[in-house]
Amino acid sequence: MKIVHGGCSSSPSQKWSPMLYRRNASYVSDLGQSVVTALAPRRGEHILDLGCGDGALTEIIADTGAQVVGIDTSSEQIAACRTRGLNVFICDGHMLPFDSEFDAVFSNAALHWMNNVDLVLGSVENSLKKGGRFVAELGGKGNIKTLIDAFLNILEEHGVEPSSMASWYFPDALTYGTKLRSHGFIVDYIELFSRPTKLPFGVGGWLDTFGGPFFQAFPQGKQHLARAQAIAYIEPRIRDSEGFFWADYVRLRFSAHLPK
Ligand code: BEZ
Repeated sequence: MKIVHGGCSSSPSQKWSPMLYRRNASYVSDLGQSVVTALAPRRGEHILDLGCGDGALTEIIADTGAQVVGIDTSSEQIAACRTRGLNVFICDGHMLPFDSEFDAVFSNAALHWMNNVDLVLGSVENSLKKGGRFVAELGGKGNIKTLIDAFLNILEEHGVEPSSMASWYFPDALTYGTKLRSHGFIVDYIELFSRPTKLPFGVGGWLDTFGGPFFQAFPQGKQHLARAQAIAYIEPRIRDSEGFFWADYVRLRFSAHLPK
């Protein structure tokens, strides 16, 4: 089934609460630290953090002595970044205003919120200097399949068109590698891999943090029921023998660069 992609974090379907994000989803930046390692930022480099969220990783990059600019479409997340003293501003990844300014573009767990891959990659290409690198991780093909199955089932039960649920862009390695090359990148590494991820505050915590695209398909008065139905569907499918819940995350990680 084809789901209409609902846009990046500027999408009205997803509201970001830095407080909930920090409480329920600190694993996103914890696990993203290895993407920073792959980026290998160097002192003095100009680096763009595309979809910087609450700035946890932006700060780690800045601590290396690199000059980091973070952009995100959520004013709440940008405000949270500013409390860390980061150089950030509100901007949509589809329309980056940069011209050959960065040595590297970095992104963790953000590109799957951006629905037009060609616009985003064109924007990244324009932002990079010659020889600049693009190192990122996003949700890949099959990501959170159990959760998406639940959402589609519940929408159907309520007689709601599945296409009214804004969703995410989860490409496979072949598709994304081809896209990167079509925008002039040389792909050094690209890999799709499973990363089952323990949900520290269970399925409810995940839904409250990230479930906007699902809930916005329902009228306000039905959202509570939809949430309970989603929990009832998902929990038995992802609970381990000790009672912990593991989301079926799949990541697509890559490192690419522009020719000199
Ligand atoms: C992810 O990081 O894979 C993700 C998080 C929230 C919603 C969709 C995907």
